[in-house]
Amino acid sequence: MSRPSVLIAGAQFGDEGKGKIVDLLVQKGDLDVVVRFNGGANAGHTIVLDDGKYPLHLIPSGILHEETINIIAAGVVVDPLFLVKEIENLKTRNISCKNLYISDRAHMVMPWHRALDAHQGGRLGTTAKGIGPCYEDRAGRRGLRIGDLIDEGGNIDREHFSRRVREVCSEKNTLFEKVHGLAPLDPEAIIQDFFAAAEVFRLKVRDTGALIAQLLRDGKSFLYEGAQGSLLDVDWGTYPYVTSSSVGLAGCYVGTGNCVLPDHRMGVVKAYGTRVGEGPFPAELGDYERVKEQDKVAPGTSLPPLSDEQKQDALAGDEYWMGRWLRSVGAEYGTTTGRPRRCGWLDVVAVRQAVRMSGLNRLALTKLDVLDGIPKLRVCVAYEYQGQRITDFPARVHHLDDYQPIYEDLEGWERLGNATQFEQLPATAQAYVLKLEEWIGVPITIVSIGSHRTHSLWR
Ligand code: IMP
Repeated sequence: MSRPSVLIAGAQFGDEGKGKIVDLLVQKGDLDVVVRFNGGANAGHTIVLDDGKYPLHLIPSGILHEETINIIAAGVVVDPLFLVKEIENLKTRNISCKNLYISDRAHMVMPWHRALDAHQGGRLGTTAKGIGPCYEDRAGRRGLRIGDLIDEGGNIDREHFSRRVREVCSEKNTLFEKVHGLAPLDPEAIIQDFFAAAEVFRLKVRDTGALIAQLLRDGKSFLYEGAQGSLLDVDWGTYPYVTSSSVGLAGCYVGTGNCVLPDHRMGVVKAYGTRVGEGPFPAELGDYERVKEQDKVAPGTSLPPLSDEQKQDALAGDEYWMGRWLRSVGAEYGTTTGRPRRCGWLDVVAVRQAVRMSGLNRLALTKLDVLDGIPKLRVCVAYEYQGQRITDFPARVHHLDDYQPIYEDLEGWERLGNATQFEQLPATAQAYVLKLEEWIGVPITIVSIGSHRTHSLWR
């Protein structure tokens, strides 16, 4: 009999704080294996420890625990050059990747994918990490997988890989020059870069489907770490403003190659809404064009806190300033680009869709402390469209501007303080959590009130 397993799924538009929750669950013990099953280096899971922040992109968040087995499964698209940098960065901080395994079926993000994404991804506001073009080639059966570079024995298959790169690169270069007006890529340089990268991780490559099956038979407990948010799912998100993989439970099946139904399916929900990049965002605060223009910061920095006057404007109903309040207090910026994240109120319609997609049976609520000092908190509970109350997220997102959020207002609180138990929170904060549970229909079992591991209340 295997021990209980957990799925972690983002229940909004990404950046919900999944990394912290994964780390918390692994640290609490009882979890032996962490599996990343979808997405790639577009994900950014940040874990805050005493000695600083650990931003992870491709490597599962269990890597900070020495004995945990970490698997990059088949559904992930792996940029080997990026992977090596991440392994080496961790090494400089004394984190060993000795228990990291990478699927031989995972598709590789190649330099042409990154170049195409940088060239074309802007209209969707992608992360430009080559994710979409790589998944496109996977479906088009033109992709290169880790197994094209490294064989079962962990040896670099130089002949096969070189031939494939030359073939595909020649096709891509024609496309680059004739269609996109981009400079051609040099296949020989790519081959050499990939050979050098492969030396770093070749002995970590496995048939991860078989490995997961074996670990399940051994009774190990698993955490399946989903990337991105459910509303970015390629089928059920705000298409076409989505990522290119299946997010949540569906992606877990595809990526692991095993029939697993995690006992605990935990959705991570931020206490307010954010979205990066283009696309509809019904409960948004402020005009995105203005935000893009005025709120961009240098990577690693943040906007100054609001002045008293700006706060007054926000409280008087100025949506731009209320959005900026959340952005500055919540440090809502892309970690690598400094792109301001769009901010809004919590949208229960979106979260309920995530619940349905992954059969979520518990939730972790993050960043509740960011709402400190806001006297009236709004929650979007439905939309109004052509006089009708809509409670399911619509498919036709090109009409989403016509869907008006219906808000319920809840009383805020001054400060959450250093509560160590849920019952120590201000009564209005407890009421906020309980009301969300009622509207979403799923228990909230973790409430996070700060970035550190210790700022977490278990219920
Ligand atoms: P892509 O996944 O890079 O193709 O980007 C597609 C869309 O998903 C863009 O709007 C990105 O900003 C968004 N996106 C992808 N990964 C994440 C994530 O981990 N957090 C938040 N947004 C993401």
